[in-house]
Amino acid sequence: MKRRKSLSLQILSIVLVSVFLLAACQPAGGEASEVEVFSWWTGGGEAAGLDAMIEVFKEKNPNIEFVNSAVAGGAGTNARAVLATRLSQNEPPDSWQGHAGQELIGTYVKDEKIEPLNFLYDEEGWLDVMPATLIPLISDGGNIYSVPVNIHRANVIWSNSQILADNGISIPTSMDEWFAAMDALQAAGVTPLSMGEQWTAMHLFETIMLSSLGPDKYNGLWDGSTDWGSSDVTAALEAFTKTLSYTNSDASSLSWQDASQLVVDGSAAFNVMGDWAQGFYQELGLEPNTDYGWAPVPGTGGNFQFLSDSFVLAVGAPDRDAALAWLKVAGSKDGQDAFNPVKGSIPARSDGDVSLYNVYLQSAMDDWASNTVVGSLTHGVVANDSWKSEIDTALGLFLQDQDVGAFQAALVAACASTGPCQ
Ligand code: GAL
Repeated sequence: MKRRKSLSLQILSIVLVSVFLLAACQPAGGEASEVEVFSWWTGGGEAAGLDAMIEVFKEKNPNIEFVNSAVAGGAGTNARAVLATRLSQNEPPDSWQGHAGQELIGTYVKDEKIEPLNFLYDEEGWLDVMPATLIPLISDGGNIYSVPVNIHRANVIWSNSQILADNGISIPTSMDEWFAAMDALQAAGVTPLSMGEQWTAMHLFETIMLSSLGPDKYNGLWDGSTDWGSSDVTAALEAFTKTLSYTNSDASSLSWQDASQLVVDGSAAFNVMGDWAQGFYQELGLEPNTDYGWAPVPGTGGNFQFLSDSFVLAVGAPDRDAALAWLKVAGSKDGQDAFNPVKGSIPARSDGDVSLYNVYLQSAMDDWASNTVVGSLTHGVVANDSWKSEIDTALGLFLQDQDVGAFQAALVAACASTGPCQ
């Protein structure tokens, strides 16, 4: 009798444990589900970073299918157009990659396309680990709207150390030193600076504006306190024009990876690109300091021109619970420490495991902590989409005609029509 009772107790506990385990494996809501995550990370170090975070997601959420709907094209030039169409048709992915700053606040929040996530920040304790500088850039009216996964640096110049040594050139630290170095390289028959398609020209442009204007006046461009029509801006645009004269003639047909590759192939001495180039070089099996060098863009030392990739929760997400499960991974230490060492970025969280990051990324961590931080134009921090797109149109014309006066007039007009000079 006693034996039978203990047997039925055993069976009961096995049943209970199984029910409990099954429940624990089910996604919230109880049904098998899927999450669609949208980005533009399809290759060149970027996909590898995303894959590493997806692995963490799958380990933690074995019953949620991950649907990776990334659309190729650096800086999201194609992906963001596809996303805009989907949003206008009310067919959002569950979650997408958006940049902290005006891209998020002035576009998706303004259009009421994403949900506030304060409850998730409370549940996960993220306010204790996310940088205080970042929170205002992802917030509006007390609501926090995204989960930052990283910090990228935009103002980096990558170099081929062998070419520099062969030509007796050391890393330039000012625009004048850089121009002198590029004159010498050009005379020696070397392409001084590699560049790719138009968004990489905008990327170069923002770093030269920072170099020429300095951080205070650069910041003033975006809040209306620096006059776009001033002689300081004219001088910066002239420096940009001169810089373009050192670039490869086939730039418009090259992706950012193509342009980065020219440096490590020995076909160009310098390239200006965000530190996703570090992720790309790593994927190629190259070693920092040996196969390539890096430094702040000349004249921008002490400044960290940043951007942050973050993930959002769509209003009307097809599977909201699965989207929240993804966001929890994106904001977690495990997720960020899997993603960033491969992506070429540093974790947004302050408690990343430093030993997982290579010598370049450790230097970026030091600079992020000690430099003056300013925002990127090309990657969504300082201007909303409408303003950025006007600047892009003006830049496109300028790349054709190199008319500084017309370019400056168009930039003044853009600030007046869609920027803070209205
Ligand atoms: C940026 C993005 C980076 C990187 C880069 C090149 O806009 O923030 O993560 O993907 O584009 O595609």
